[in-house]
Amino acid sequence: MASRVVLVLLCCMHLSVLAAAAAAGAEYNIQRFGARADGRTDATQALAAAWSAACRSPEQGANVYVPNGEFLVSHVAFAGPCVGRTTVQIDGTLVAPSGFTGGEWIVFKHLDGLTVSGGTFDGRGDSLWACKAAGNGGCPDGATSVTVRNSRDVVISGVKSVNSELYHVVIDGCDGVTVQDARIIAPESSPNTDGIHVQSSSSVTITGASIQTGDDCISVGPGTSNLRVQHVSCGPGHGVSIGSLGKESEERGVENVTVSVAVFVGTENGLRIKTWGRAVRSGAYVRGVVFEHALMRDVRNPIIIDQNYCPNHGGQGCPHQVRAPVGAADQSGTSSCSPRSN
Ligand SMILES: *[C@@H]1O[C@H](CO)[C@@H](O)[C@H](O)[C@H]1NC(C)=O
Repeated sequence: MASRVVLVLLCCMHLSVLAAAAAAGAEYNIQRFGARADGRTDATQALAAAWSAACRSPEQGANVYVPNGEFLVSHVAFAGPCVGRTTVQIDGTLVAPSGFTGGEWIVFKHLDGLTVSGGTFDGRGDSLWACKAAGNGGCPDGATSVTVRNSRDVVISGVKSVNSELYHVVIDGCDGVTVQDARIIAPESSPNTDGIHVQSSSSVTITGASIQTGDDCISVGPGTSNLRVQHVSCGPGHGVSIGSLGKESEERGVENVTVSVAVFVGTENGLRIKTWGRAVRSGAYVRGVVFEHALMRDVRNPIIIDQNYCPNHGGQGCPHQVRAPVGAADQSGTSSCSPRSN
């Protein structure tokens, strides 16, 4: 049953990738700006120059084009505002320098009207994970692979993110973002590699995502409203997680999150809501959560609501152990769980 649902998801992917590719305007091929597809020559400046030209272009739909091949890039900011709507179309792979520690690797910000279609983002997180696994401390912070910040009217279509050092994709401070047909892959053992993280954003739709990673498949932070997650598959991973909320003394809540038609296979959780014990003081809230049509196989906690989250103190020194106001978290729909064999 699960595999049939996944198959349907995969078929939808191809159609929408083709549709996105057909809508290109004036093209700014990064090879014309000096990039070489050898995976070794630093293409950061070429990519930045192609973006700068496209962003200034008076034409609608100016398109930065990354052809097939591997392009090594370190930190790149695709910053607006731009003159018109811009597109970044990627047929090839962007590869991070090994051990990149720049905080954020690829950032799209201050844009009104952006489409990113296709492409593989390879964060090469393995050296950071190995450092963390060794447990000797002193590891670099690592980098989020793809961040979309303070932008409106954004479509991220058919993007593949592999082996991010930390989060794969972050949507922060945005209004109106659609992430469709994303594929996210990192090992089950990779730490803090959340698939798609949304915070301080409204009207975000995540549809057709296939996520296999080491932490939450989708995580939802403070200030998120009107988030739709549909037709996603998750596993391995920690499921869909709202929170933790209420960590800061003043914090916005989470309102209207619908997760529908989701397949969870071998995940730690299905849906988790976690709030720190003091959330009631900080004004944080969670309301209007709908979780429907989930299919789960070998999931440890199908639905878990933790109102006393406090990970590092063993219960000691946790701020104000009071119940957080998540009573309005409406759960509905069906989930079918087959019991674990042990
Ligand atoms: C949440 O959904 C309700 C019901 O549809 C709507 O009235 C409310 O405005 C939504 N909240 C936000 C912050 O948009």
